[in-house]
Parts: sequence; C-alpha cells; structure tokens
Amino acid sequence: MSSPSSAHRQVETLADGAAVAQAAADLFVAQARAALAHGHDFRVALSGGSTPRRFHALLAVTPLREQVDWTRVQFCWGDERWVPPDHSDSNYRMARETLLDTVPIRPEQIHRMRGEDDPARAARAYEAELRQAFGVGPGMAPQDVPRFDLIYLGMGPDGHTLSLFPHTAALGVTDRLVTENVVPQLATTRITFTPPLANNAALVAFLIAGADKADALAQVLQGAPDSQRYPSQLIAPAGELRFIIDQAAAAKLRG
Ligand code: 6PG
Repeated sequence: MSSPSSAHRQVETLADGAAVAQAAADLFVAQARAALAHGHDFRVALSGGSTPRRFHALLAVTPLREQVDWTRVQFCWGDERWVPPDHSDSNYRMARETLLDTVPIRPEQIHRMRGEDDPARAARAYEAELRQAFGVGPGMAPQDVPRFDLIYLGMGPDGHTLSLFPHTAALGVTDRLVTENVVPQLATTRITFTPPLANNAALVAFLIAGADKADALAQVLQGAPDSQRYPSQLIAPAGELRFIIDQAAAAKLRG
C-alpha cells in the first residue's frame, strides 16, 4: 500500500491548534451546507482523542452555531473505546459534552458505537446500523459501502488513526465496514471503521496539532510506504483528503 496518493491530497499548515480548530469548524459548516444543497442530510463521522474538543466548542457557540441546520446532521463515530458512554475515556461522551448537548438535535440523529458492549458484537451492530442509516445492502460492493460526506480523523504520535494501530489485525480488514481491533499496545480492544469505509468518504480531514506528532506525520506524508508501521498511510479516499495541521506538527516536513 503506497502512502496517500497526493492526487487529491491537500496539506494546510496553520499557525497553531486554535487555527486548526477554526479551520475544522468552518469545514463542518461548509460541508453541512453542501450536503443539504445536494438534497440529503449531512453525514459526518467524528473522531475521538483530545484534538476535536476545540472545534466542537466553536460549533457550539455563535457565530457558527447559527450557520448549521442541526436537524439535518447525522452524527457517527470513526472509533470508540471499550468503555460505557458515561466513562471519561468515551469518544461519545467527549462529543456529547463539547457539542451534542449544546445544539438542537434529536436522539435518532446520533449513531454511537456501543462501547459498553463486547467489541466484536458492537462492531457488527454498528455496521448493521450504518447500512440501515445509509440504505445500503450487505457486502462490500462499491454501492454497498456507505459514503460519508465528511470523516474527521486524528493521528497519534505512533502514526495510528481511528483505532487502526501499528501492526494490528484491523489494518488488513477489507471485508467489513466496522471491526473490533485488539490493541496490545494499550492492552485493550477497540471498535473502529475499516480502511474501505474510511476511504469511500467524499472528504476525509486529518486534524493534527503539536510537536509530538511531527516525526510520524513526516513519515505518513513523505516517508516510504509502510502502513503497518504508520497506519495513517492507509487513508487514501476516493474523494478528497485534507491534512489540517499546525506548524509544530509540520516541523519535520521537507519543502
Ligand atoms: C481515539 C481516536 C484516535 C485519536 C488519536 C489522536 O479514539 O483515540 O480516534 O485515533 O484521533 O489518538 O488523539 P489526540 O487528538 O488526543 O492527539
């Protein structure tokens, strides 16, 4: 697997984490409008970790809050930890506290991964829920893979994204949309989108800030193809690929 093809890859280097958050929030507003203009709800997958907190908070307040028709957003998650929804490590809880609780949405607009369940069962259940929500059939034929309008991704200092960690089984899963993934590095099992689902999105946006990400980011963008070691290299969507990064994270990039 080669590193993300640069054909439709865009790298936007901004001053700092605050600027990354602003760009991410503006992107949400623009893509939500575009989806409605195309006559369908805005289908977005949120990422976990800490980086999204700031852009969620910008969407929750004026002026951006008024620029989104919140009744037409379908919220999904790219991955989840094996914890209940009220646990401090829950990606769902983070999004609920920083955004969902502050905007006018109905419960049926929230499609969360059930981190409280057995990960294998939760992964199968989430795949079924996505297929129903997107109105697609079983299997992995192109027309049966849901197409998100926008998927937000983060990247760890080890080059992982979603819960696709280096040298783990989920990196090679191509016959499912969502899978459980045993992560020995964290002594846990996660639930995660697979590369085929992520790569069918209209737009994938990596949000990456901080000096601790610089080494891995240089490998992901400019290093030799090695997606086992840098799983973020697996993300090469049919649509657009954007890296919204800050100068600290970009510090090791050539050119
Ligand atoms: C998770 C994430 C994960 C995250 C990265 C970056 O559940 O942990 O989905 O892929 O995006 O670990 O995390 P930070 O934003 O906290 O650096």
